[in-house]
Amino acid sequence: MLETVLVTGGAGFIGGHLVERLLEKYHVVVMDNLSTGKISNLPQHPQLDFLFGDVSKEKDVARVFELYTFTYVYHLAAIASVAASIENPLGTHQTNMDGTIHLLNASKKQANTMRKFVFASSAAVYGSEPTLPKRETSAIAPITPYGIDKLASESYVISYSHLFGLKTSAARFFNVYGPRQNPESPYSGVLSILTNCIQKVVAGDEKVAFTLYGDGSQVRDFVYVDDIVNGLILLAESAESQSEVFNIASDENHTLLEVIAMYEEIVGKKLPLKYKNARAGDIHQSYADISKIKTIGYKATNTLKMGLSKYNQHEMEQAQQSIGIS
Ligand SMILES: NC(=O)c1ccc[n+]([C@@H]2O[C@H](COP(=O)([O-])OP(=O)(O)OC[C@H]3O[C@@H](n4cnc5c(N)ncnc54)[C@H](O)[C@@H]3O)[C@@H](O)[C@H]2O)c1
Repeated sequence: MLETVLVTGGAGFIGGHLVERLLEKYHVVVMDNLSTGKISNLPQHPQLDFLFGDVSKEKDVARVFELYTFTYVYHLAAIASVAASIENPLGTHQTNMDGTIHLLNASKKQANTMRKFVFASSAAVYGSEPTLPKRETSAIAPITPYGIDKLASESYVISYSHLFGLKTSAARFFNVYGPRQNPESPYSGVLSILTNCIQKVVAGDEKVAFTLYGDGSQVRDFVYVDDIVNGLILLAESAESQSEVFNIASDENHTLLEVIAMYEEIVGKKLPLKYKNARAGDIHQSYADISKIKTIGYKATNTLKMGLSKYNQHEMEQAQQSIGIS
């Protein structure tokens, strides 16, 4: 019989990719309230059960754990918008912090059989302290409610390992990008907005311009979603990851202007730019040292150029399908 895995937030951008991969080996249960996720991010598959539920509600979480015994839990459900956390700290806290505690309490009852509880944390825990690259031992100074809840959640996750013998690890993702990332809000991942603009330019839209906040010299560590999935599965399956926190990133860092130039080269078109003032709270440079996760076997398999090419190819195919060209 197949082992059963829970993915909270499985209908989201990263969750959908993780679920696709896990279905190769497991029976997968997704718990999601579809607040930002979409059913269309999930494949139709006989080994997949979708349960509509809210991780901030203890009884919703308890119901899922009454129905199944899980070998692994991947806890990705979150309000993933920093801006939303600044506007509504208490509301986002209920999902981003209370939700984690409900899941840990439910998982603790299955600690004897559960092989790993993996938590999706974020580079936001490092905040704006300027020392680079960010190592797991770097100063921790979150500057937003989102980063604070991620830090508190990962501390809870590791503490449940020490207190209750639940095997856990946490992963700090840097800037994740790839197919199905939603470009709709101005606070969406910058590469989803950029990809959306590039697609319009390729389609011949002459009015489109990409808004650059600041001068484009911001540095980021953009990691392709497939590498995040590789890293999460590695943390779940590795014994050495237990009770530890790891960065998952790309092993490269680029300015936004470099990323734009790379994209222009891939599609063979120029992208018109519109400059605006840098946004308050935006961190100028953020990139990771990933030597810790490399010691347990991680490798970033997609260079930025490879990742952008795959992402662009996927978007072109989607556009062709939507206008009926096969
Ligand atoms: N995308 C990134 O660059 C990035 C970087 C660092 C960390 N992360 C973390 O990775 C995880 C996945 O992020 P994503 O980019 O796929 O975002 P996403 O918004 O696409 O996915 C989040 C999912 O959680 C679900 N959800 C939200 N609140 C919920 C609740 N109360 N109960 C149940 N489900 C709920 C949403 O419907 C959605 O499907 C999040 O924890 C996020 O904080 C993402």
